[in-house]
Amino acid sequence: MREREIQQGRLAVGLMSGTSLDGVDAALVRISGPAEKPAVRLLAFVTVPYPAAVRLRLLKVAGGVACGVAEISRLNFALGELFAVAALRVCRQGRVSPERLAFIGSHGQTVFHQGLSRSPSGGAGLSQNVSTLQIGEPAIIAARTRATVVADFRPADLAVGGQGAPLLPLVDYLLLRHERYGTVTLNIGGIANVAVIPACATPQKVFGFDTGPGNMVIDGLMRHCTRGQKTYDFGGRLAAQGRAIEPLVAEILRLPYFRRKPPKSAGREQFGQGFLAGHFLCRRSADNKDLLRTATELTARSIVDALKRFVFSQVEIHRLVVSGGGAHNGLLLARLTELLPHLSVQLSDEYGLPLDAKEAIAFALLADRTLHGLPGNMPAVTGARRAVVLGKIVPPSKWMRERLPKL
Ligand SMILES: Nc1ncnc2c1ncn2[C@@H]1O[C@H](COP(=O)(O)OP(=O)(O)O)[C@@H](O)[C@H]1O
Ligand SMILES: [Mg+2]
Repeated sequence: MREREIQQGRLAVGLMSGTSLDGVDAALVRISGPAEKPAVRLLAFVTVPYPAAVRLRLLKVAGGVACGVAEISRLNFALGELFAVAALRVCRQGRVSPERLAFIGSHGQTVFHQGLSRSPSGGAGLSQNVSTLQIGEPAIIAARTRATVVADFRPADLAVGGQGAPLLPLVDYLLLRHERYGTVTLNIGGIANVAVIPACATPQKVFGFDTGPGNMVIDGLMRHCTRGQKTYDFGGRLAAQGRAIEPLVAEILRLPYFRRKPPKSAGREQFGQGFLAGHFLCRRSADNKDLLRTATELTARSIVDALKRFVFSQVEIHRLVVSGGGAHNGLLLARLTELLPHLSVQLSDEYGLPLDAKEAIAFALLADRTLHGLPGNMPAVTGARRAVVLGKIVPPSKWMRERLPKL
């Protein structure tokens, strides 16, 4: 990396779409300083919502409904186009020509994720069932933007025995660690995940895991109750009019996922349509608002339970930094604040990381690490046997070619 770029910064775009399947988030950032110790500034942010038809197709594929390889292949290309649209749009919004981009980091869209815990012996070879698939063809993004694209971050971690998730704790460690304050970052997407960064932490002391559902169950109920007209409970307002069915919350919290020790990761496979049907939709006599309230309570309580079980006993925590679309749910945030009276509950906005943009920003930073040959996973977090460089790079652009050693 040239000295000037280290000092003045490199322009990059981070692209992300999570398990909510709501759309593609694109963050235009300027990263400055060495990749080991970056500083990042958000210049522009957009979300390109998935067209309803694409969303339905994704819900089927990611929901495990049997479909042919042709459908997955077509979706991979269709999403590549949408991710490219998001990248170009955020550049336009930030008044930056895509030619000036040093690179794009694209997470893609997870349509399948199964990371099993390692065998106790840490034995060689992957368990047959471990795999992950993110789609949104990076070659299309690269062709439309003419930028170098780093994509497909998770498989490299799975290949060395990790869960492939979560990847955000490294970025949280880089940007939010504090000498005196123990910090938990909480991202409430479709799934909720936490990263734990003790005061004055070294990377080995950081850990993180998925606590369970974030918005996934709430969104699923909203779609069901409104016959697809509404995809989420704005501000948590409908849930606020209902009452939580306490025995149902308690029953669900006894499920093995919540009791299992980290590292662990979850997705639509655990908390998607099957979960919704088995625990909520089967209660035909229950009031919809009560069910929504129950789902919201489940999210809040599963997060707090996980913190009590696996975090507070290990580390002294002072602040909870919340991000993700679920942070817009006022009821959910109010419950978290009530249930965690000894913590300072803050939004990631306070740290220059707007709550909707944080994950997209993170994938720009992870791509920056990849292009510098730095590892992007944290073995203590994912359970991997070692730290590895993540992602695949498509294709070396002019920007990169100038930097490759002459053969
Ligand atoms: N104003 C709002 N009120 C309540 N929930 C919201 C609001 N805005 C977004 N959300 C929730 O956030 C979700 C999107 O969050 P996001 O962080 O993009 O998740 P993911 O990473 O899974 O895509 C939506 O599906 C919805 O559940
Ligand atoms: Mg999203």
